[in-house]
Amino acid sequence: MARAMVLLWACYSALLTGTCVNGLGVNWGTQTSTPLDPKYVVQMLKDNKINKVKLFDSDHWTVHQFAGTGIEVMLGIPNLNLKKFSKDYDAVQDYVKENVSDHLRDHGGVKIKYIAVGNEPFLKAYKGEYEKTIFPALKNVQKALNEAGLGNKIKATIPQNADVYNSGTAGPSAGNFRPEIRDLMVKISRFLDENNCPFIVNIYPFLSLYENEDFPIEFAFFDGGGQGVQDRNIHYTNMLDANLDTLTYSLKKAGANKVKIIVGEIGWPTDGNQHANAKMARRFYNGLLKKLASNKGTPLHPGYIEVYLFSLTDENQKSVAPGYFERHWGIFRYDGQPKFPIDFSGQGNEKMPVGAKNVTYLSHQWCVLNDDVKNMSKVRVTLDYACSLGDCTSLSYGSSCNRLSERMNASYAFNMYYQMNEQSVEACDFNGVAKITNRNYSTQECLFPVEIMSAAGKNLAGTSVLVGLLSLLALS
Ligand SMILES: *[C@@H]1O[C@H](CO)[C@@H](O)[C@H](O)[C@H]1NC(C)=O
Ligand SMILES: *[C@@H]1O[C@H](CO)[C@@H](O)[C@H](O)[C@H]1NC(C)=O
Ligand SMILES: *[C@@H]1O[C@H](CO)[C@@H](O)[C@H](O)[C@H]1NC(C)=O
Ligand SMILES: *[C@@H]1O[C@H](CO)[C@@H](O)[C@H](O)[C@H]1NC(C)=O
Ligand SMILES: *[C@@H]1O[C@H](CO)[C@@H](O)[C@H](O)[C@H]1NC(C)=O
Repeated sequence: MARAMVLLWACYSALLTGTCVNGLGVNWGTQTSTPLDPKYVVQMLKDNKINKVKLFDSDHWTVHQFAGTGIEVMLGIPNLNLKKFSKDYDAVQDYVKENVSDHLRDHGGVKIKYIAVGNEPFLKAYKGEYEKTIFPALKNVQKALNEAGLGNKIKATIPQNADVYNSGTAGPSAGNFRPEIRDLMVKISRFLDENNCPFIVNIYPFLSLYENEDFPIEFAFFDGGGQGVQDRNIHYTNMLDANLDTLTYSLKKAGANKVKIIVGEIGWPTDGNQHANAKMARRFYNGLLKKLASNKGTPLHPGYIEVYLFSLTDENQKSVAPGYFERHWGIFRYDGQPKFPIDFSGQGNEKMPVGAKNVTYLSHQWCVLNDDVKNMSKVRVTLDYACSLGDCTSLSYGSSCNRLSERMNASYAFNMYYQMNEQSVEACDFNGVAKITNRNYSTQECLFPVEIMSAAGKNLAGTSVLVGLLSLLALS
């Protein structure tokens, strides 16, 4: 009772100061050369009053850091595990014991509420690879949770990409699951409904704009500009509402009427494309967070919407197959420092969020092109190599470093490779055309980063990149 009073008061006083964001969540992915220490991430979430986090795996050490924090955690089971989890129930039980139950007892307990089984398994790029395993895996996970006595508290679900359903040009009321996967989506939706599990969908107005030049840009934002979409007697002014209501119609047609919808990912990238920059991201989040704080919901679902922003930090090792912007979804940079003002409370205040504290950087040094190199054709080969293993997405058209000179281009590529290899001396050779310098080569628009110190023993990715380069040089 006393505890409940304290909690109520905490929330009430937070409301007065405008910080009680109604259950705002954020995704934290770690496909980066040096992930931030989970301890710092926990602090960062607390400092910014974000009380839910969605992870892409169930790494024990990471999850453990959330014990006793009160931050709600959504665990992830990668697609790679779906095959095993679809047919090996013992393995699923082991997973639930080791990665779920054990954490509930750990130092005040980790507040685990959802298990995301797979991630966007019906992406067209996977060509149906997970269609046979995803539903059995989902059922096995919920069954194992039930048998462990956790089924009422912890729910399994599947984060879906939004193109599992569509409505053509007719508007949300014509919404339905894609014909090729409809039967399976109907079964999954009904299972979620019957077991009180939520339906999670990832919605990206940015991708609609990226994929379709004719997409009405105003519809991606929340300022009410542009024509919008008229559907019978409802007028939609933004894509999020239209998309969520398309899903609601699809679920209705599937006979899954009361399933709760959660937005598992939504955000705007800041680099790697002409529409990806801090200004547009700021506009998007400002509109989104105000909308969420107002609890207006959508025309079909007035009220609170549970949302996980994508993403907390940049990830410089994500595949660029979807586009160069893919590594720049972070609200914060790779080092946990803010990029633009954002008010997580949805009050629209112009303030920078609180960055990660206690982050340690490697030495303030950079790897750049040697001044005495004159023959650039020699440089181009090494530049291409550095870019194939490092991260040159910020050099691409429309990006923050696209206007560098050819020499600076090479320096940028060399530095990214060098930093991602933890400033190893061998990683700044490039057949003798590169050198290490204490001079900061960053320009006003283009940051030449300095890598952060890895949390003990966690960074093995960089090493394998370096081994790759050494063996290539040995061959040439
Ligand atoms: C950050 O450093 C300060 C001062 O050394 C320390 O008190 C604090 O606990 C540290 N925070 C984290 C999250 O490690
Ligand atoms: C627990 O999760 C981690 C990280 O996702 C995974 O490597 C490990 O295999 C899982 N444990 C079991 C028993 O499945
Ligand atoms: C520049 O380097 C390329 C490739 O190593 C070589 O073929 C070319 O002859 C060089 N040009 C000059 C002017 O040295
Ligand atoms: C620098 O590299 C980018 C990406 O490869 C390219 O688009 C641009 O034209 C280059 N700039 C110069 C001056 O070579
Ligand atoms: C390098 O310069 C950039 C741009 O002025 C700055 O943001 C960055 O903090 C500097 N890096 C270091 C390590 O001093």
